[in-house]
Amino acid sequence: MATREVDPIDGLMVDVVGPWASEKHQRLSEYIRLASGARKVFVPPKGTGGASYIELFSASGRSVIEGTSTYIDGSPLVAYKAAHASGVRFSELHFNDIDQEKTDALDQRIRALGGAAVVHNKPVDLAIDDIVYALNPSGLHFAFLDPYNLEYLSFDIIEKLARFKHMDMLVHVSVQDLQRNLDRYSVQGGVFDKFEPDWRKRVNPNQAIAPFRAALMEYWLGEIRKLGTMPAQGVELVVGSKGQRLYWLMFVAAHDLAQKLWSAVRNPGGQRDMGF
Ligand SMILES: C[S@@+](CC[C@H](N)C(=O)[O-])C[C@H]1O[C@@H](n2cnc3c(N)ncnc32)[C@H](O)[C@@H]1O
Repeated sequence: MATREVDPIDGLMVDVVGPWASEKHQRLSEYIRLASGARKVFVPPKGTGGASYIELFSASGRSVIEGTSTYIDGSPLVAYKAAHASGVRFSELHFNDIDQEKTDALDQRIRALGGAAVVHNKPVDLAIDDIVYALNPSGLHFAFLDPYNLEYLSFDIIEKLARFKHMDMLVHVSVQDLQRNLDRYSVQGGVFDKFEPDWRKRVNPNQAIAPFRAALMEYWLGEIRKLGTMPAQGVELVVGSKGQRLYWLMFVAAHDLAQKLWSAVRNPGGQRDMGF
Protein backbone atom coordinates (compact mmCIF):
# COMPACT_ATOMS: atom_id res chain seq x y z
CA MET A 1 0.00 0.00 0.00
CA ALA A 2 1.30 3.48 -0.85
CA THR A 3 2.52 5.54 2.11
CA ARG A 4 -0.26 7.70 3.41
CA GLU A 5 0.00 11.32 4.27
CA VAL A 6 -0.24 12.17 7.93
CA ASP A 7 -1.54 15.15 9.78
CA PRO A 8 1.43 16.97 11.36
CA ILE A 9 -0.78 17.79 14.36
CA ASP A 10 -1.60 14.26 15.49
CA GLY A 11 0.61 12.07 13.31
CA LEU A 12 -2.37 10.05 12.09
CA MET A 13 -3.25 9.42 8.47
CA VAL A 14 -5.35 11.85 6.47
CA ASP A 15 -7.55 11.56 3.40
CA VAL A 16 -6.63 13.51 0.29
CA VAL A 17 -9.56 15.58 -0.99
CA GLY A 18 -10.43 18.19 -3.61
CA PRO A 19 -10.89 21.82 -2.59
CA TRP A 20 -14.69 21.50 -2.84
CA ALA A 21 -14.83 19.20 0.23
CA SER A 22 -15.03 22.27 2.45
CA GLU A 23 -18.24 23.40 0.81
CA LYS A 24 -19.90 20.08 1.60
CA HIS A 25 -18.69 20.37 5.19
CA GLN A 26 -19.98 23.90 5.52
CA ARG A 27 -23.51 22.75 4.66
CA LEU A 28 -23.23 19.78 6.99
CA SER A 29 -22.10 21.98 9.83
CA GLU A 30 -24.81 24.56 9.18
CA TYR A 31 -27.53 21.93 9.17
CA ILE A 32 -26.29 20.49 12.47
CA ARG A 33 -26.24 23.95 13.98
CA LEU A 34 -29.79 24.68 12.80
CA ALA A 35 -31.09 21.32 14.03
CA SER A 36 -29.88 21.88 17.60
CA GLY A 37 -33.39 22.86 18.70
CA ALA A 38 -34.78 19.58 17.40
CA ARG A 39 -32.02 17.57 19.12
CA LYS A 40 -32.77 19.28 22.38
CA VAL A 41 -36.26 17.78 22.38
CA PHE A 42 -34.82 14.26 22.15
CA VAL A 43 -31.95 14.38 24.63
CA PRO A 44 -32.18 14.63 28.42
CA PRO A 45 -33.54 16.41 30.37
CA LYS A 46 -36.43 16.93 27.90
CA GLY A 47 -36.33 13.68 25.95
CA THR A 48 -35.16 10.10 26.28
CA GLY A 49 -34.83 8.88 22.67
CA GLY A 50 -31.45 10.51 22.11
CA ALA A 51 -30.01 12.16 19.02
CA SER A 52 -27.58 10.19 16.91
CA TYR A 53 -25.20 11.02 14.09
CA ILE A 54 -24.36 8.33 11.54
CA GLU A 55 -21.80 8.06 8.78
CA LEU A 56 -21.44 4.90 6.73
CA PHE A 57 -18.48 6.19 4.69
CA SER A 58 -16.73 8.22 7.36
CA ALA A 59 -13.07 8.24 6.27
CA SER A 60 -10.41 9.25 8.82
CA GLY A 61 -11.73 12.53 10.24
CA ARG A 62 -8.93 14.70 8.81
CA SER A 63 -7.96 15.50 5.24
CA VAL A 64 -5.36 17.36 3.27
CA ILE A 65 -6.46 19.35 0.24
CA GLU A 66 -4.81 17.81 -2.79
CA GLY A 67 -1.62 19.55 -3.91
CA THR A 68 -1.51 21.81 -0.83
CA SER A 69 -0.41 21.65 2.78
CA THR A 70 -3.84 22.72 3.98
CA TYR A 71 -5.31 20.28 6.49
CA ILE A 72 -9.01 20.31 7.25
CA ASP A 73 -11.43 18.37 9.40
CA GLY A 74 -13.26 15.52 7.72
CA SER A 75 -17.02 15.30 8.03
CA PRO A 76 -17.10 13.26 11.30
CA LEU A 77 -15.07 15.93 13.11
CA VAL A 78 -16.98 18.73 11.41
CA ALA A 79 -20.23 17.18 12.65
CA TYR A 80 -18.93 16.51 16.14
CA LYS A 81 -17.60 20.05 16.58
CA ALA A 82 -20.70 21.69 15.07
CA ALA A 83 -23.00 19.87 17.51
CA HIS A 84 -20.70 20.70 20.40
CA ALA A 85 -20.59 24.37 19.45
CA SER A 86 -24.40 24.48 19.14
CA GLY A 87 -24.71 23.47 22.81
CA VAL A 88 -26.65 20.27 21.98
CA ARG A 89 -24.29 17.36 21.33
CA PHE A 90 -25.23 14.11 19.67
CA SER A 91 -25.89 11.46 22.27
CA GLU A 92 -24.54 8.72 19.97
CA LEU A 93 -22.05 8.63 17.13
CA HIS A 94 -21.96 5.71 14.70
CA PHE A 95 -19.19 5.64 12.11
CA ASN A 96 -18.14 3.12 9.52
CA ASP A 97 -15.48 2.88 6.85
CA ILE A 98 -14.16 -0.13 4.98
CA ASP A 99 -10.56 1.02 5.54
CA GLN A 100 -9.26 0.08 8.98
CA GLU A 101 -6.44 2.58 9.05
CA LYS A 102 -9.06 5.29 8.60
CA THR A 103 -11.41 3.98 11.26
CA ASP A 104 -8.52 3.60 13.76
CA ALA A 105 -7.46 7.20 13.10
CA LEU A 106 -11.03 8.44 13.41
CA ASP A 107 -11.58 6.61 16.68
CA GLN A 108 -8.46 8.20 18.17
CA ARG A 109 -9.40 11.65 16.91
CA ILE A 110 -12.89 11.53 18.40
CA ARG A 111 -11.43 10.36 21.72
CA ALA A 112 -8.90 13.19 21.63
CA LEU A 113 -11.85 15.58 21.45
CA GLY A 114 -13.42 13.97 24.51
CA GLY A 115 -16.06 12.04 22.56
CA ALA A 116 -16.85 8.36 22.19
CA ALA A 117 -18.05 6.82 18.96
CA VAL A 118 -19.12 3.36 17.92
CA VAL A 119 -16.74 2.80 15.02
CA HIS A 120 -17.35 -0.01 12.56
CA ASN A 121 -14.92 -1.29 9.99
CA LYS A 122 -17.02 -3.19 7.47
CA PRO A 123 -18.31 -3.01 3.92
CA VAL A 124 -21.30 -0.70 4.05
CA ASP A 125 -23.89 -3.38 3.27
CA LEU A 126 -22.89 -5.21 6.48
CA ALA A 127 -22.32 -2.16 8.65
CA ILE A 128 -25.79 -0.78 7.93
CA ASP A 129 -27.45 -3.72 9.71
CA ASP A 130 -25.26 -3.39 12.81
CA ILE A 131 -25.95 0.32 12.99
CA VAL A 132 -29.72 0.24 12.53
CA TYR A 133 -29.93 -2.54 15.09
CA ALA A 134 -28.27 -0.25 17.63
CA LEU A 135 -30.46 2.80 16.97
CA ASN A 136 -33.26 3.77 19.30
CA PRO A 137 -36.54 3.67 17.32
CA SER A 138 -37.80 6.71 19.18
CA GLY A 139 -34.63 8.76 18.77
CA LEU A 140 -33.78 11.55 16.34
CA HIS A 141 -31.19 10.45 13.81
CA PHE A 142 -29.12 12.18 11.20
CA ALA A 143 -27.20 10.17 8.61
CA PHE A 144 -24.67 11.66 6.23
CA LEU A 145 -24.09 9.36 3.26
CA ASP A 146 -20.93 10.36 1.46
CA PRO A 147 -19.57 7.59 -0.79
CA TYR A 148 -16.95 8.24 -3.48
CA ASN A 149 -19.37 7.04 -6.11
CA LEU A 150 -22.77 5.46 -6.63
CA GLU A 151 -21.45 1.93 -6.54
CA TYR A 152 -21.99 1.56 -2.81
CA LEU A 153 -25.04 3.75 -2.41
CA SER A 154 -27.56 0.97 -2.77
CA PHE A 155 -31.21 1.82 -2.35
CA ASP A 156 -31.39 -0.80 0.33
CA ILE A 157 -29.36 1.46 2.66
CA ILE A 158 -31.75 4.37 2.26
CA GLU A 159 -34.70 2.06 2.77
CA LYS A 160 -33.29 0.67 6.03
CA LEU A 161 -32.60 4.13 7.40
CA ALA A 162 -35.97 5.50 6.29
CA ARG A 163 -37.76 2.96 8.51
CA PHE A 164 -36.98 5.21 11.47
CA LYS A 165 -39.64 7.78 12.20
CA HIS A 166 -37.17 10.59 12.81
CA MET A 167 -34.39 10.00 10.34
CA ASP A 168 -32.85 12.89 8.41
CA MET A 169 -30.38 12.11 5.68
CA LEU A 170 -27.95 14.17 3.71
CA VAL A 171 -26.91 12.23 0.65
CA HIS A 172 -23.99 12.97 -1.63
CA VAL A 173 -24.58 11.90 -5.22
CA SER A 174 -21.61 12.21 -7.52
CA VAL A 175 -22.63 13.88 -10.78
CA GLN A 176 -19.24 13.14 -12.28
CA ASP A 177 -19.69 9.49 -11.53
CA LEU A 178 -23.11 9.50 -13.19
CA GLN A 179 -21.67 11.30 -16.21
CA ARG A 180 -18.60 9.16 -16.63
CA ASN A 181 -20.05 5.75 -15.95
CA LEU A 182 -23.57 5.93 -17.31
CA ASP A 183 -23.00 3.17 -19.87
CA ARG A 184 -21.18 0.84 -17.51
CA TYR A 185 -23.67 1.35 -14.67
CA SER A 186 -26.74 0.76 -16.82
CA VAL A 187 -25.86 -2.74 -18.03
CA GLN A 188 -27.92 -5.63 -16.68
CA GLY A 189 -26.69 -6.38 -13.13
CA GLY A 190 -24.78 -3.08 -13.06
CA VAL A 191 -24.62 -0.38 -10.40
CA PHE A 192 -28.02 1.14 -11.24
CA ASP A 193 -29.74 -2.14 -10.44
CA LYS A 194 -28.67 -1.63 -6.80
CA PHE A 195 -28.87 2.16 -6.74
CA GLU A 196 -32.46 2.15 -7.98
CA PRO A 197 -33.85 -1.36 -8.45
CA ASP A 198 -36.54 -1.68 -11.15
CA TRP A 199 -35.47 1.53 -12.88
CA ARG A 200 -35.74 -0.28 -16.22
CA LYS A 201 -39.50 -0.46 -15.86
CA ARG A 202 -39.74 3.33 -15.77
CA VAL A 203 -36.67 4.84 -17.39
CA ASN A 204 -35.79 4.44 -21.06
CA PRO A 205 -32.01 3.96 -21.41
CA ASN A 206 -32.17 4.63 -25.15
CA GLN A 207 -32.14 8.38 -24.98
CA ALA A 208 -29.54 11.15 -24.93
CA ILE A 209 -27.26 11.26 -21.89
CA ALA A 210 -28.67 14.38 -20.23
CA PRO A 211 -32.37 13.35 -20.28
CA PHE A 212 -31.40 9.79 -19.33
CA ARG A 213 -29.48 11.05 -16.29
CA ALA A 214 -32.33 13.39 -15.36
CA ALA A 215 -34.89 10.57 -15.68
CA LEU A 216 -32.77 8.30 -13.47
CA MET A 217 -32.57 10.94 -10.76
CA GLU A 218 -36.30 11.67 -10.98
CA TYR A 219 -37.07 7.99 -10.63
CA TRP A 220 -34.70 7.72 -7.64
CA LEU A 221 -36.32 10.70 -5.90
CA GLY A 222 -39.76 9.21 -6.59
CA GLU A 223 -38.73 5.89 -5.02
CA ILE A 224 -37.46 7.75 -1.94
CA ARG A 225 -40.81 9.56 -1.67
CA LYS A 226 -42.58 6.19 -1.71
CA LEU A 227 -40.71 5.27 1.49
CA GLY A 228 -42.67 8.03 3.19
CA THR A 229 -39.71 10.30 3.43
CA MET A 230 -39.34 13.46 1.39
CA PRO A 231 -36.40 14.74 -0.55
CA ALA A 232 -36.25 18.48 0.09
CA GLN A 233 -37.18 20.52 -2.93
CA GLY A 234 -34.20 21.66 -4.90
CA VAL A 235 -31.12 19.53 -4.80
CA GLU A 236 -27.95 21.41 -4.06
CA LEU A 237 -25.51 21.24 -6.94
CA VAL A 238 -21.91 21.80 -5.88
CA VAL A 239 -19.64 23.00 -8.68
CA GLY A 240 -15.84 22.92 -8.92
CA SER A 241 -13.46 25.83 -9.34
CA LYS A 242 -13.84 25.67 -13.14
CA GLY A 243 -17.61 25.53 -12.96
CA GLN A 244 -17.73 21.76 -13.49
CA ARG A 245 -20.70 19.97 -11.95
CA LEU A 246 -19.33 17.82 -9.12
CA TYR A 247 -22.06 16.47 -6.93
CA TRP A 248 -25.53 16.89 -5.63
CA LEU A 249 -26.28 17.13 -1.95
CA MET A 250 -29.74 15.96 -1.22
CA PHE A 251 -31.51 16.36 2.05
CA VAL A 252 -34.17 13.78 2.88
CA ALA A 253 -36.49 13.73 5.87
CA ALA A 254 -39.97 12.66 6.84
CA HIS A 255 -40.84 15.71 8.90
CA ASP A 256 -42.08 19.11 7.72
CA LEU A 257 -39.04 20.96 8.97
CA ALA A 258 -36.88 19.43 6.25
CA GLN A 259 -37.73 22.04 3.63
CA LYS A 260 -37.18 24.88 6.07
CA LEU A 261 -33.93 23.53 7.40
CA TRP A 262 -32.58 22.78 3.98
CA SER A 263 -33.57 26.11 2.52
CA ALA A 264 -31.82 27.83 5.43
CA VAL A 265 -28.72 25.73 4.76
CA ARG A 266 -28.87 26.60 1.08
CA ASN A 267 -29.21 30.31 1.81
CA PRO A 268 -26.66 30.98 4.51
CA GLY A 269 -27.49 34.69 4.45
CA GLY A 270 -31.18 33.98 4.99
CA GLN A 271 -32.85 32.57 8.06
CA ARG A 272 -30.24 31.82 10.73
CA ASP A 273 -32.38 30.05 13.28
CA MET A 274 -35.29 27.66 12.97
CA GLY A 275 -37.05 29.13 15.97
CA PHE A 276 -37.71 25.97 17.94
C1 LIG B 1 -15.76 10.41 0.09
S1 LIG B 1 -14.98 9.46 1.33
C2 LIG B 1 -15.78 10.05 2.79
C3 LIG B 1 -15.31 11.42 3.17
C4 LIG B 1 -15.87 11.95 4.46
N1 LIG B 1 -17.33 11.91 4.48
C5 LIG B 1 -15.43 13.40 4.68
O1 LIG B 1 -16.10 14.32 4.14
O2 LIG B 1 -14.43 13.61 5.38
C6 LIG B 1 -15.66 7.87 1.12
C7 LIG B 1 -15.15 6.80 2.05
O3 LIG B 1 -15.87 5.59 1.76
C8 LIG B 1 -15.03 4.50 2.09
N2 LIG B 1 -15.56 3.31 1.40
C9 LIG B 1 -15.36 2.94 0.11
N3 LIG B 1 -16.05 1.81 -0.15
C10 LIG B 1 -16.71 1.47 0.98
C11 LIG B 1 -17.58 0.39 1.33
N4 LIG B 1 -17.95 -0.54 0.44
N5 LIG B 1 -18.07 0.35 2.59
C12 LIG B 1 -17.73 1.30 3.48
N6 LIG B 1 -16.88 2.32 3.22
C13 LIG B 1 -16.39 2.42 1.97
C14 LIG B 1 -13.65 4.94 1.64
O4 LIG B 1 -12.63 4.26 2.36
C15 LIG B 1 -13.67 6.45 1.94
O5 LIG B 1 -13.04 6.74 3.16
